[in-house]
Amino acid sequence: MRAVVCRSFGALEALRVEECPPLEPGPGQVLVQVHAAGVNFTDLLAVEGRSQLKRQLPMIPGAEAAGIVLAVGAGVSRHRPGERVLGCSTHGTFAEQALFAEEELACLPDDMDMRTAAVFYIAAMTARYALQDRARLASGEILLVLGAGGGAGLAAVQVGKALGARVIAAASSREKCTLALAQGADEVVRYAAGPLNLEAQKALTTELLAHAPRPKEKAQSIGTISSVPASAGYHVILDGVGGTYTEPALRALGWEGRYLSIGFAAGMARIALGPALFRNADILCIQPSADEHRLPGRNPHAMQTLFDWHRQGKLTPRITQTLPLEQAAQALKLLRTRAASGRIVLTILRAQGRE
Ligand SMILES: NC(=O)c1ccc[n+]([C@@H]2O[C@H](COP(=O)([O-])OP(=O)(O)OC[C@H]3O[C@@H](n4cnc5c(N)ncnc54)[C@H](OP(=O)(O)O)[C@@H]3O)[C@@H](O)[C@H]2O)c1
Repeated sequence: MRAVVCRSFGALEALRVEECPPLEPGPGQVLVQVHAAGVNFTDLLAVEGRSQLKRQLPMIPGAEAAGIVLAVGAGVSRHRPGERVLGCSTHGTFAEQALFAEEELACLPDDMDMRTAAVFYIAAMTARYALQDRARLASGEILLVLGAGGGAGLAAVQVGKALGARVIAAASSREKCTLALAQGADEVVRYAAGPLNLEAQKALTTELLAHAPRPKEKAQSIGTISSVPASAGYHVILDGVGGTYTEPALRALGWEGRYLSIGFAAGMARIALGPALFRNADILCIQPSADEHRLPGRNPHAMQTLFDWHRQGKLTPRITQTLPLEQAAQALKLLRTRAASGRIVLTILRAQGRE
């Protein structure tokens, strides 16, 4: 089987499509003929050797895909050969074949094409888990999404709307802001493609606060102390950008706001905790895949919610580019240079008659 192989960390140009030995599913694993693979920021981190998951070399990049089940390993009960599936895997999906743990696969709805399915799992699963399970985003609350024109960002915009929030999308280019509006954002904030100096950070906080007119809530009174007015600012902020964007965004959080950190595309966030303390804020860090190992069985249930939203037209990944497997390096370069907006899909096999 052909696969993109990474033999040294760092240089995207060194990625090559090579002939590799065919795969055999082990116990609990499912072997899938990959039709399309989604490109995620985590793939870039893996190839650059910056991933917390520390993959061994040589390795096949790629963390999600859609295709057809070829074979199942011992003990697999949820899947059968011939099924159309999508899923997330740490074994490498930029390949003609990939192995998945059975709990990280789901059967596609009949009306979902392979390219959509290839980019449906990671972003939507992360956004739903962050906003619904962790931040408990409620209908009518105000959500800010940083990096809203990227894969996880656009999914968060749509999940936020599906949960009934008012969504403010922030991104660095006009194109990304336009995409976020098209995916349902109520308003957009265009920020500079930093790193941001102190002055630019202060200006960003002011700009973000201007989009978060928060109703005059009263914080609950305790004992004889009369209730105090809640501060202006967002109820929930979802941040996959990090770097110099996190602290100015944190300063735009409202009273008892929830700050969700899902990643650091612009570099590790280093923040002062003062702004969080004075807002009684929750800072929540999100890694749903780690939770799946502790709470097996949760992902299949969550996927049904995501499929329902897809059926209702509330959650549809916005694919902006489709490239052949051979151009995996170019796809990752678009993410590295911040030039990607929406989703990039690699096609491996043309899905017979279903695309
Ligand atoms: N915790 C999890 O389980 C999980 C799951 C999925 C994704 N993530 C994280 O979520 C973030 C988004 O992932 P994604 O797959 O959606 O990636 P993506 O489509 O490439 O989006 C990343 C966004 O980050 C922004 N960005 C800011 N500075 C950047 C820089 N120096 N280089 C590249 N992008 C930069 C860009 O938006 P602007 O130009 O508008 O700022 C870009 O659209 C990443 O941090 C990723 O690691 C985490």
